[in-house]
Amino acid sequence: MRKVLIVYYSLYGNTYKMALEVAEGVKEAGCEPVIRTVPELIPQEIIDSREDMKRGKELQKDVPLVTLDDFREAIAIAFGTPTRFGVVSAQLKNQIDRLSPLWQEGALEGKPAGIFVSTSTLHGGQEMTIFSLLPAILHLGMVFVGVPYSVKELFFTKGGGSPYGPSHVAGPDNQREIDPEERAILRAFGKRLAEIGLKLSA
Ligand SMILES: Cc1cc2nc3c(=O)[nH]c(=O)nc-3n(C[C@H](O)[C@H](O)[C@H](O)COP(=O)(O)O)c2cc1C
Repeated sequence: MRKVLIVYYSLYGNTYKMALEVAEGVKEAGCEPVIRTVPELIPQEIIDSREDMKRGKELQKDVPLVTLDDFREAIAIAFGTPTRFGVVSAQLKNQIDRLSPLWQEGALEGKPAGIFVSTSTLHGGQEMTIFSLLPAILHLGMVFVGVPYSVKELFFTKGGGSPYGPSHVAGPDNQREIDPEERAILRAFGKRLAEIGLKLSA
């Protein structure tokens, strides 16, 4: 079965839960979702001192760290990140900065890629965060995939989700669950990304 890599960073667990929804969409396209995370940069003692961070990390404790081979083997790649002051998290960017060998090989050229984002607030920078990562995707030669308006939930969402990519409003305490429209957009995105990956790798 062809693999679709879903590589994300998450501190409180919301972006991780989004990755699980993207994975459901990937399965609908008949592909295998490969969920991977990236190295943490926050000192462990800070995480240990915060119940909310510990809870978020506990949820993801079995998710392996991504490898370069995960990127090589995937026919499509979804990148997930929380917003950090309107841009991509340092943790996900740090992983992308480790992709130089693949850039030199041209290993990612022609593969479809998209971005999903979690923020605390509705207008806290979801679209900006996606665009902050877009140059890296293009430098690596990947083909950017968003969400078209045939996904009707884009018209009705009161939380996240835009043509630029799926998103989720986690709320000020990071406790707001993924709502039905956000879920539908995440799944449609996973399915679309996998289907485009199948076409481009045929
Ligand atoms: C340093 C820092 C900067 C943040 N900047 C923003 C921001 O610009 N806009 C916003 O809505 N939320 C911001 N947040 C909130 C996070 O985006 C939110 O906690 C995150 O989406 C939750 O995702 P997670 O559960 O996967 O960690 C920030 C959080 C931190 C720690």
